[in-house]
Amino acid sequence: MSRYPTNYKHSAAIPVLMIAQKQNNNFLTLAAMNKVAKVLEMAPMQVYEVASFYTMFNRTLVGKYHLQVCGTTPCMLRGARDIIKAIKEHAHIEEGETSEDGLFTWNEVECLGACVNAPMIQVNNEEFYEDLTPESMVAIMDLWKKGEEPQVGP
Ligand code: FES
Repeated sequence: MSRYPTNYKHSAAIPVLMIAQKQNNNFLTLAAMNKVAKVLEMAPMQVYEVASFYTMFNRTLVGKYHLQVCGTTPCMLRGARDIIKAIKEHAHIEEGETSEDGLFTWNEVECLGACVNAPMIQVNNEEFYEDLTPESMVAIMDLWKKGEEPQVGP
C-alpha cells in the first residue's frame, strides 16, 4: 500500500486481489473480496466488479493447474482448438470444470501477449507454455500428474 497515494487506495485493487487470491488456494471467496474492500476503503460491489471483469481472477475453486488457453485469432489459427480438445480429452473436463484428481481446470481467454509463439497457454497466472501441439500439451499434463514441473516457454 505504500506504493499508492493514500487518497488513491482504490488503485491497489488489482495487486491486492492478486495477493488475496494467492493466499487462498488460487481463488477469491466473497469473504476475501469483502476484506479487500475493507482494506482499500471501497464499496464491496466495486471490488466484485474488478474481480469479475479480469480473467486472472477466479471466483470459484480451480484445479491445482489452472490452464488458461488463448483462443484469440493467432492462437486459434495455429491450433488452439486442438489444444483445447487435447486438454478436454486428457482430463475429461469441459470448460470451467475441475478434473476428478483435482489437478486441472481450463478456460479459454483472450490474447496473452505471446502470439509469436502461438498456440500457448498460461498456467496459474504465472507460467507460459508456448508453441504447443496436442502431443506436447498432453506430455506437459502427464509431467504434472507425475509431480514434475515441465519446462516453461517456447
Ligand atoms: Fe494467443 Fe496472442 S493470440 S497469445
